[in-house]
Amino acid sequence: MTRISCPDLAAKVVSAEAAAALINPGDHVGFSGFTGAGYPKVIPGALAARMKRAHDHGEDFQIGLWTGASTAPDADGSLAAVNGISSRLPYNSDPTLRKLINSGEVEYIDEHLSHSAQHMWFGFYGRLNVAVVEVTAILPGGVLVPSSSVGNNKTWLDRADRVILEVNHWQPRDLEGFHDIYNGTAVPPHRNPIQLTEPMQRIGEPYLRVDKRKVVAVVETNHPDRNSPFKLPDETSEAIAGHVLDFLRHEVKAGRMPASLLPLQSGVGNVSNAVLAGLDGSEFTDLVAFTEVIQDGMLDLLDSGTIRAASATSLGLSDLGAKRFMTNIEAYKGRILLRSEGISNHPELVRRLGVIAMNGMIEADIYGNVNSTHVMGSSVMNGIGGSGDFARNAFLNFFLSPSTAKSGAISTIVPMVSHVDHTEHDVHVVVTERGLADLRGKSPRARAEQVISKCAHPRFKDALSSYTRRAWHAHPHGRHTPHLLGEALSWHQRYLDTGRM
Ligand code: COA
Repeated sequence: MTRISCPDLAAKVVSAEAAAALINPGDHVGFSGFTGAGYPKVIPGALAARMKRAHDHGEDFQIGLWTGASTAPDADGSLAAVNGISSRLPYNSDPTLRKLINSGEVEYIDEHLSHSAQHMWFGFYGRLNVAVVEVTAILPGGVLVPSSSVGNNKTWLDRADRVILEVNHWQPRDLEGFHDIYNGTAVPPHRNPIQLTEPMQRIGEPYLRVDKRKVVAVVETNHPDRNSPFKLPDETSEAIAGHVLDFLRHEVKAGRMPASLLPLQSGVGNVSNAVLAGLDGSEFTDLVAFTEVIQDGMLDLLDSGTIRAASATSLGLSDLGAKRFMTNIEAYKGRILLRSEGISNHPELVRRLGVIAMNGMIEADIYGNVNSTHVMGSSVMNGIGGSGDFARNAFLNFFLSPSTAKSGAISTIVPMVSHVDHTEHDVHVVVTERGLADLRGKSPRARAEQVISKCAHPRFKDALSSYTRRAWHAHPHGRHTPHLLGEALSWHQRYLDTGRM
């Protein structure tokens, strides 16, 4: 059955190769996609082939690539494999591209996801030459049914000089109605409050819109989204989840939040996924999510009724999860809402709704600063993603990690983080499998005591306590947040020297 019921745009259907030929060397290109969901499936590959041919003839062909967040091996990965990306924003988790970023060959602009669309509107990134956006269907008049993620699609469609659409027949046609696209893109000083006071409230329309005159090509595809399944929760991640759940119980008992909690945000990564699994089967019910990505764990919670509804920007489902979603799609209608990432992650909304934010981390220091992005202070892992959008504005935030990394060689609790993403002023609760440190309302000294005694692995506890004691005595006039700077950073150098990194 046709998915393109707009004659003007049906007339623009071409092959992936012909569409890729409309992208020029040096262009800034805005792809749809947030996780392995809703990204263009065939144009990146056709473009990569074109780049390879150009490179084989000694010609430069690279683009600046902008997206919602990460994409998948057949988008980021295929362009990275031919060295076709000169700059990338606002988030990447592709391993091939990560290598190029860390070897200095790709300029990576790692941004808070809620900032990426508005920075485009503010003119901070320059001109967007082409948008390549996957949609589920094209309705008359150039009205678009979005696909499995929204990300920055609205901004890319509004701002790009030229637009290429991929209509993906794999995406369920019944996705129509799952989206809420807000249309309040005014820039300061003309902004108004965003009138959203409930996580599942609709404040926009279910469609994206495009100026048909800007559409230079339409390509039809039938390709699945690609999201890797998470590791099954293990003893460590289950212990982390257990501490989070106990703490939530404690907060309910203390009267600081209702029995159905407050809207939940759960970050990317294996540990965050394990916390979702921990919630399933707990006494908590009737919860609601105001988050970025609906991953398989969230579907479990929706199915069991632990979560009644979820607002997000992406359906980041594994193959199995996607099949489950498609089979029961009617049951999810009205219980899942997909929004632009500028709304799903909006600081104003996160703060108003009182979100509980749970995100993974690479390391935390004794005073509560958190590193989410850089291994040994230099090599980027993924990026800050939405962790800052949520954590900074949350009612309550958790940062989660095993107490050690690299088979126990590295303590994830350190004297001083090697890179700071979330400062001691933002971080509420640090959790490892060893325990949970509640840092709210505590001075740096009290925080250090909590973090070391509750979260550090026993093998590193004495060294951390000794460090803190000696730092305290070394600075009679600087005891607010005392450090032995050389020694603090030597923790990271020591691991580098072992050659384990
Ligand atoms: N030093 C060195 N490597 C470390 C480390 C440390 N202190 N801590 C973690 N790592 C490595 C792990 O060894 C693992 O590497 P591997 O895949 O080569 O084994 C990798 O980081 C992932 O660690 P894992 O323990 O499996 O955690 P995770 O899957 O939960 O991911 C983050 C943790 C921090 C990488 C992930 O949460 C992230 O990218 N966060 C930033 C973005 C974000 O928070 N987004 C959420 C907003 S929605």
